[in-house]
Amino acid sequence: MSEDVKKGLLGIVVDETEVSKVMPEINSLTYRGYAAQDLCARCNFEEVAYLILNGDLPNKKQLKKFEKQEKNERTLSKNLISILKQMPKKAHPMDVARTAVSVMGLEDKQTSDNSQKANLNKTMRILAKMPTALALFYRLRNGKKMISPKKKLSFAENFFYMCFGKVPNKDIVKAFDVSLILYAEHSFNVSTFTARTITSSLSDIHGAITGAIASLKGPLHGGANEEVMQMMKKIKKPERALKWINKALDNKQVIMGFGHRVYKNGDSRVPTMREYFKKVSKIKKDKTFEKIYDIVEKVMIERKNIHPNVDYPTGPTYHLMGFDTDFFTPIFVLSRITGWSAHIMEQHAANKLIRPLAKYKGSQHRKVLSLNYR
Ligand SMILES: CC(C)(COP(=O)(O)OP(=O)(O)OC[C@H]1O[C@@H](n2cnc3c(N)ncnc32)[C@H](O)[C@@H]1OP(=O)(O)O)[C@@H](O)C(=O)NCCC(=O)NCCS
Repeated sequence: MSEDVKKGLLGIVVDETEVSKVMPEINSLTYRGYAAQDLCARCNFEEVAYLILNGDLPNKKQLKKFEKQEKNERTLSKNLISILKQMPKKAHPMDVARTAVSVMGLEDKQTSDNSQKANLNKTMRILAKMPTALALFYRLRNGKKMISPKKKLSFAENFFYMCFGKVPNKDIVKAFDVSLILYAEHSFNVSTFTARTITSSLSDIHGAITGAIASLKGPLHGGANEEVMQMMKKIKKPERALKWINKALDNKQVIMGFGHRVYKNGDSRVPTMREYFKKVSKIKKDKTFEKIYDIVEKVMIERKNIHPNVDYPTGPTYHLMGFDTDFFTPIFVLSRITGWSAHIMEQHAANKLIRPLAKYKGSQHRKVLSLNYR
């Protein structure tokens, strides 16, 4: 590969952003200047969603208005419910999520209005309706009836309620809320860049989020939290972990939930999520995955000097909460809608068509022979 080709855009700065930054001086991911772990300690997901979308933390009045708007938008149209009912039960819930946003785009009166105001309204509708759509699919494929959203419940509580018919203990809800905060935004990752690229042709937010979901599905990005759980299920028992990870590394296997394009000395979101994984393991009285977690992590650092990323602790945490493994990345979607939307609005506000170049290495000019001569 010639040196002037920057494959994977490695190290290339393509635009400016005010949404988030990994600040080396505090070794942390920050949203609008606030450290993600401080936000986990002092705020709920709704406050962080407001921050990411509006640029600042809300006061009480602003939060109340924001929460009210989200709660009022949770109901799905009859059309979307009927489409979800027709979806194959074996479909991957990420494909269901992608299709659901696309259908929401067909129904939304403001789809082609790319103004900031319309984009904020559309974001609220997508953010509020996506948990209802996913929970409905979760219930349908398990042969259960739909549970309608409840306005008195928070964003996190309501998702548990619509999936399982009850809200779990407050520490479990907090662990879920923390995972949403940590997943909400991460600058120019592949799905966000996809959303910005789609937006750069002046396309709409539903299209950009549809593309972003497709991008997030891949195992090198959001799909990693599912793969982590598949790995842990394969390992099954802590006493098998050491042999398993050493063999996998001997076979040059990529270990999901480890490594990161930006963090090379550890993902700053991991200690917070690890703490909540520990709490959930204790509540559920199941330390199996924690033990496997520690062994695999130790070997990865010792043999490869590669640290876990946030998908490593979220995978087993969601499993212990009772979610099916293929719902882990869709849960990531519920949260990242905020980050994607903030970037989509930023792109619209100062747009430049994204159109890189490629170094051509195909055939030189050739004459087209008519069919009889080929
Ligand atoms: C995230 C990821 C794609 C970053 O990739 P990247 O910045 O392009 O880094 P590279 O893939 O070039 O990795 C550099 C080296 O570390 C190795 N490496 C990186 N992540 C690894 C992992 N999870 N397991 C084993 N080896 C890994 C690569 O094999 C490569 O080794 P080499 O130089 O001998 O070829 C990569 O770490 C990965 O595939 N991780 C697993 C998937 C995952 O957890 N994704 C979620 C990210 S939040």
